[in-house]
Amino acid sequence: MNLLLESGKSLLEGSKNNLSLLSNASAFIKAYIEDLNWAGFYLLEDNKLILGPFQGLPACVEIDLGKGVCGTAYQRNEVLNVPDVHQFDGHIACDSNSNSELVIPLFKNGIGIGVLDIDSPLFNRFDEKTQTFLIEFAKIVVDLYEI
Ligand code: SME
Repeated sequence: MNLLLESGKSLLEGSKNNLSLLSNASAFIKAYIEDLNWAGFYLLEDNKLILGPFQGLPACVEIDLGKGVCGTAYQRNEVLNVPDVHQFDGHIACDSNSNSELVIPLFKNGIGIGVLDIDSPLFNRFDEKTQTFLIEFAKIVVDLYEI
């Protein structure tokens, strides 16, 4: 495991509840991954995604399943790496600085938790190395999340 992932894991293992876990997870990503303008969580509640802990500008509070990059990634249970959000049909613009986006669906033992959503002002920000790192980081979060 790489050093940054190790330190993220150590940090998160200290969290005693889900709110603290997701708060520190979003802060960690925003602080240590370069060129991001937003990093945070949308959580499944009443069959939609609601805004959870995040770092960045205020964002839309509800996303319907199947809508936007977040709702689509969740519904398909598929990581969506969007190099240019302006080309994504139905993209929901919360921060006009966002040009690329990575959304990782979060499921634990088949139960939906929500998504991890990360935005960048750069186009095509999420290269394979960054994507792999963030997927591994999301796995750590899911492992520690209590459902
Ligand atoms: N762009 C997302 C909405 C959330 S913001 O990026 C924080 C989407 O299309 O689902």
